[in-house]
Amino acid sequence: MASHLIVDGFCSKATQLRQRFEDVMAEPEAPRSADRFAWDWWHVPNRYTHLRTPAARFFSPELIGSFRSELQEWGRRELGCGEISPIWLSLYVDGCEQNWHADHPHGPWAFVYSLTPKPGAFRGGETQLLRPEVLSRWSFAAQGEFHADAIVDKISPKFSRLITFDPRIPHGVSRVEGTRDPLLGRLVLHGWFTPPKIHIDGALKPGQLREFLKQLDGEVFKLIQDETQTWGSSGHAAFRLRILASGKVQSLESLADSLRAPTPDQELRDRKNLKAAMKRLASRVRFPACPRASTLTLPLNFE
Ligand SMILES: [Fe+2]
Repeated sequence: MASHLIVDGFCSKATQLRQRFEDVMAEPEAPRSADRFAWDWWHVPNRYTHLRTPAARFFSPELIGSFRSELQEWGRRELGCGEISPIWLSLYVDGCEQNWHADHPHGPWAFVYSLTPKPGAFRGGETQLLRPEVLSRWSFAAQGEFHADAIVDKISPKFSRLITFDPRIPHGVSRVEGTRDPLLGRLVLHGWFTPPKIHIDGALKPGQLREFLKQLDGEVFKLIQDETQTWGSSGHAAFRLRILASGKVQSLESLADSLRAPTPDQELRDRKNLKAAMKRLASRVRFPACPRASTLTLPLNFE
């Protein structure tokens, strides 16, 4: 499983979001908007240095609401997570950075959405993620090169690019150098998906899931107690079940997961066993019959 997901050209309102920023920040000698004063210079020595403001203060409710809705819909579809924390807007100019850190506890996935017009206008500004193989370096024969470019994923803040990643992974933002102009700086919306809940689209009611949830508990318990194949992963996984009006499961789909185990082999084994357990469950469970079909998004958390 990749440690991060990238979607280019993510939001249909990218241009409007960027335009709002330019409307506020253009013409420093003749400020048009009191919203210029929204910024907090966030400086925590050796950790964070950048300008930030709550996105809800900077953008109209309609505009940030559109971004939020698109992100929630995507998160529900791809990650099984449909809720997000309040969104931040951050601006990085010369000297701004985020040093290496992990976000714990915040949520199962972090997101960064870029409104940076030209990432080539400065040096740095990449989202940096330590590669997962580095985190289990002693569990297998270390081979190959070991230098920054080989052990760190660096993702450029291309305009309208969405990055989501497991925020337990050490990450940061490389120092921006080369521009003090806010209109050329690294501008991002960012935040976290919050711990997900079961989501139903369709005729099924939450109270009709009781029997299914009982059986699910049994399968998960068996999985993590299995003495022949000891479970060792932590993180989030999510599944989508399409359920016919008859109550039969029509299909089961695995969504993105952030399962991590002490060794890559164990992680693969755990993921395979989890999928097999969910397949067994889906093939035998019967939901109550309903007037129409339903879709169930099912998040699972392993700590
Ligand atoms: Fe972070």
